[in-house]
Amino acid sequence: EKILVINGPNLNLIGQREQEIYGNSSMKDLEQMLKKEAESLNVSIDFFQSNHEGYIIDKLHKSQHTYSGIILNPAAYTHYSYAIYDAIRAIKVPTVEVHISNIHAREEFRQKSVTAKACIGQISGFGLYSYVLGLYALLNHRGRK
Ligand code: DQA
Repeated sequence: EKILVINGPNLNLIGQREQEIYGNSSMKDLEQMLKKEAESLNVSIDFFQSNHEGYIIDKLHKSQHTYSGIILNPAAYTHYSYAIYDAIRAIKVPTVEVHISNIHAREEFRQKSVTAKACIGQISGFGLYSYVLGLYALLNHRGRK
């Protein structure tokens, strides 16, 4: 079982960026934490981060025959990228949308997700633990948990 984690724009800066919202753990910390969790669940996990919409779409396309599930934080693209919405629908790989912050409790423009409609569900507001919950949600969806 192979799971892919995709992080969108500016998430490479977590740990430095708006710490009161995103905390002080880095992308490296996130990857280490998820790797550990994945190992204990006997799944392998890969990571991809890009600040470019098209690269995220290319990665989604390529994941089609390689991964059984995707954990996706589209970051600001969440709120307006119909191109990413279309890509998630096109690939038919079960995808869970995750957010570090609770987007429903923030500025109005963040309260809408156009990408979540293409996903099996959304997890928002649990800090980096949102990704762990996303992993469990994917395994549950596949009948593994
Ligand atoms: C985010 C929430 C988005 O609104 C924001 O643009 C991000 C991060 C989150 O994980 O909380 O970059 O996706």
